Amino acid sequence: MCGIIGYTGESEALSKMTKGLSVLEYRGYDSVGVALQEDGEIKTVKCRGRIGDLEEKLKQSPSHARCAIGHTRWATHGGPSDRNAHPHRVGSTVLVHNGIIENHKQLKERLIDLGVEFSSETDTEVAAALLDLHYQTCNDPVKAIRRAMEELTGSYAFGILFDGAKGEVYAVRSGSPLILAKGKDGYYLASDMTALLPFTNLYYPLKEGEIARLTPTEAKLFDDESKEHAPTWEQTDMTAEAAQKDGFAHFMLKEIFEEAKAVENALASRVDENGLPDFAQDGIDAAFWKRIRNIQIVACGSAMHAGLIGARLIEDYAAIPTSVYIASEYRYHPPVTGEGTLVIVVSQSGETADSLAALRYAKSVGIPTLGIVNAVGTTIAREADYCIYTYAGPEIAVATTKGYCTQVAVLYLLALHFAKIRQTMSPTRIKGLLDGLRVETPYAIAEMLTQERMQAYRRIAQVFQDRDHAFYIGRGRDYLLSMEGALKLKEISYVHTEAYASGELKHGTISLIEDGTPVIALCTEPSLAEKAENNVHEVESRGAHVIRIYRADCLKKHEADTDTIVLNAKSDIACFFSAMIAVQMIAYEAAVRRGCDIDRPRNLAKSVTVE
Ligand code: F6R
Repeated sequence: MCGIIGYTGESEALSKMTKGLSVLEYRGYDSVGVALQEDGEIKTVKCRGRIGDLEEKLKQSPSHARCAIGHTRWATHGGPSDRNAHPHRVGSTVLVHNGIIENHKQLKERLIDLGVEFSSETDTEVAAALLDLHYQTCNDPVKAIRRAMEELTGSYAFGILFDGAKGEVYAVRSGSPLILAKGKDGYYLASDMTALLPFTNLYYPLKEGEIARLTPTEAKLFDDESKEHAPTWEQTDMTAEAAQKDGFAHFMLKEIFEEAKAVENALASRVDENGLPDFAQDGIDAAFWKRIRNIQIVACGSAMHAGLIGARLIEDYAAIPTSVYIASEYRYHPPVTGEGTLVIVVSQSGETADSLAALRYAKSVGIPTLGIVNAVGTTIAREADYCIYTYAGPEIAVATTKGYCTQVAVLYLLALHFAKIRQTMSPTRIKGLLDGLRVETPYAIAEMLTQERMQAYRRIAQVFQDRDHAFYIGRGRDYLLSMEGALKLKEISYVHTEAYASGELKHGTISLIEDGTPVIALCTEPSLAEKAENNVHEVESRGAHVIRIYRADCLKKHEADTDTIVLNAKSDIACFFSAMIAVQMIAYEAAVRRGCDIDRPRNLAKSVTVE
């Protein structure tokens, strides 16, 4: 939700803060700030706005500090303002925070009674005051943090500087992510490794409740008993270049262009010499798969949409009853489970609080869990009993594209894997279906991104220039992709878009169709084409401006017009992914036309680490 960075070492810290924060902006971008420790003094500079606004402000106060923390915010408590921007200083304690302190009201009342004066509306300032209260009493940063932790409820990742602790950065986390890193010139912390890739690739994911002290020459960890030990550094093979735009106008566009490769990466090492699915490399034993009798897929947003496709595929191919749940609802009305239930949590970031809470609930009642995660080493990946990485690489644009794409690819592979284990299909059929993904899909995706295709998306997107409402319709799997298409369009172009099962529209919602209402109709399942087209006629005859995204063999000749995108792929799965590219590109071009901030849509953040 918010991005945190910190550094202490022999190099100048400010440029590291601004560089790291600009990468972390995807986590929140309504205000930004840094605290710089120089000659024993801690100076904070912060403002409403983005990193560019902070850089303007910093011009008035140059710094040679070698120890600093920084923050980019997504407002939860207290609107975006200079006052509410982090870092927050109370007494001798300066704090940046990601997460939510749930008992901040009670703590604030107590602290006010003790004479503390607050200058912001944030829960973070309350945490800073609590930390400071303990720091004033014991004058020991680690003890002060441990004592404050005993009183705090909620989720938090903290980066902390204390007056009197020169060159020292403290960090702790509970429920929100935080990574430590070791560079040649000092030690770092950040919410996400991508912010640190320009400096180092050695990292350590801080554990729940562990306190870290970074100095220019060492990193130390303190566990529950305040016993000291050193982190075990791991090496990531992600590169800083992977987190650059590479000449694309936006990260979203770059990430759409990376989808063909991402599908290949998601499958690499998971197909055996006979062309059949194989998850042995993920460390999942055969006995685990055989025990599964029913599946619950839990996720949020686009990941949940990927889950819906996955559930359909698992039921179709392997006949395992599979349901999909919105993660934020799951533990408040948990479904019935029994012998052989598996919970699959799908998450690009691996840190989504709602999904994590659902995972922890499932584990607490003894259900085996499997994570399908992109970001390596993240909380969901670590806490799930098993994890299958999607290997999409860093996804920076707030709206997911290649993340969703690889989630569907992995779920497709999983469905075929279950079919193999349960022998619901012949190996030849499974291989044929998998070839559709492995061999045909990367080409099909590339074919959907040629210059000619791009011109078509641009032309089609013109309709959204002055339209604020739209619909996506489809039947079967196309309805499930419609949900993702509608989310993509509304979240980045702010065109209010709803997805409807084509046959359902006439049961009420069709009254909203008026002259020129854009309706994007998807059709990739030939067996449903006739009925789907009838539904299109229903809206067309009521004045809708219809855009068809149709598989070639679902289209009658006279239906193709300039607002039709014809999918030439042959297999069902390659058609699905071709249609997916079209819906993503239409959303992208609509947002371009409407002058929207594509990579950072309003009110959103990439990683939603609050419930
Ligand atoms: C939409 C989008 C979100 C995420 C959702 C889950 O473009 O990105 O709907 O899919 O917040 O995030 P992860 O997959 O990180 O758990």
